[in-house]
Amino acid sequence: MISASELDARDPLSGFRDRFVHNSNEPELIYLDGNSLGRQPRAAADVLARVVDQEWGERLIRGWNEGWLDIAEGVGDLIGELLGAQPGEVTLAENTSVCLYKAVVAALRERSSRRKVVTDDENFPSDIQILRSACRSAGSDQTVEIVETSAATDPTGALLDAIDESTAVVSLSHVAYRSGRRWNLKAVNRAAEQAGALVVWDFSHSVGAIPIDVAVEGVDVAVGCTYKYLNGGPGAPAFIYVSSQQSALSNPISGWFGSKKPFDFDYQSPPAEGIQRFLTGTPHVVSAALVQPGIELLLEAGMDNVYKKSVRLTERFIDLCDKHLAKFSFEIATPRDPASRGSHIAVIQAQAQAIGLALINEQSVIPDFRPPDLLRFGFAPLYIGFADVDATVKRIVDVVEGGGIDRWKDNAPLVP
Ligand SMILES: Cc1ncc(COP(=O)(O)O)c(C=O)c1O
Repeated sequence: MISASELDARDPLSGFRDRFVHNSNEPELIYLDGNSLGRQPRAAADVLARVVDQEWGERLIRGWNEGWLDIAEGVGDLIGELLGAQPGEVTLAENTSVCLYKAVVAALRERSSRRKVVTDDENFPSDIQILRSACRSAGSDQTVEIVETSAATDPTGALLDAIDESTAVVSLSHVAYRSGRRWNLKAVNRAAEQAGALVVWDFSHSVGAIPIDVAVEGVDVAVGCTYKYLNGGPGAPAFIYVSSQQSALSNPISGWFGSKKPFDFDYQSPPAEGIQRFLTGTPHVVSAALVQPGIELLLEAGMDNVYKKSVRLTERFIDLCDKHLAKFSFEIATPRDPASRGSHIAVIQAQAQAIGLALINEQSVIPDFRPPDLLRFGFAPLYIGFADVDATVKRIVDVVEGGGIDRWKDNAPLVP
């Protein structure tokens, strides 16, 4: 195995680490939760000062004509560059849950003669809640079928078997939030298209971690978070992508910002064209502005480079887990084929919660815990290096051999 220091020295992305804020009081911290909340880009503080002090403080209401009106679609176009979308196909809006609701109700109304929404048990629970409420709202007696892919030996086969002529919508997380398993976009899109169904993707755990080309992969509709690998900040607005070829899809929550002329103050104003029609009310200007710096870093680094490094970091982590942790009953729950995973590795261990707490509180490593027995280690390639991977595995061994499980087994997690 090549040494971590040699790999870090050769890493073309190593300079990006310093473009993020690191707390000098915690120099040993290894932050492996960027798949939940990404680190703060250094540039974010300048953006915040500009928006608050100058644009709001000095320009006041004039700010709307000086950039705020278009901010959701402007930042959306930058996300579109990461996704291979055309300008005018992506906008920021609300949060992932609401964007998903809008997209799925729109799709269900387009396929109102069909009864079924297909998803899987690896999807994010909130997404399944949203699918159910979308069915209730669409008003055509549609129901959600949850395929149990988590236990299937052939998840793709199990999913595709469920897609038929009664399927209106297929909705999946591109990368599963627990296992990190990744769907083949093209295979699912093709099967759905052949059956006449629309696919609504959740890119929350793939955007900014994996190169995606919506045009090449035939993606019609997608939503996703910006606070994970895009490093947009806590509670940052989500995004929605609707292919320009799906112009018949309409926003079920229409409001003034989604209409052609919001400032005519005319409740009969027709919907805007393009992705603007999926807006509803006033954009979240301050948090939208904070999404931009993280995307710019990814565009500068290049998604192919980011992905190459993600594969090498996750491969190294899996190898070291096999070598040093398998004997302590750690089991890798993420696919070993890099083409079938995202940028986090899930590890199952009966005492995962206690180990996670010991790592956070004694070892300056932040992973996250998902009940009942899963730890997730997220490798955000712009600020995680190869030495971090080695040190993490060493610190896990120190926890297990040093009695950390006993010290933390009766504690509840501080942050869920
Ligand atoms: C895959 C996935 N979808 C949706 C969400 C929910 O996003 P929001 O709270 O922005 O609606 C999350 C949150 O972590 C997620 O991981």
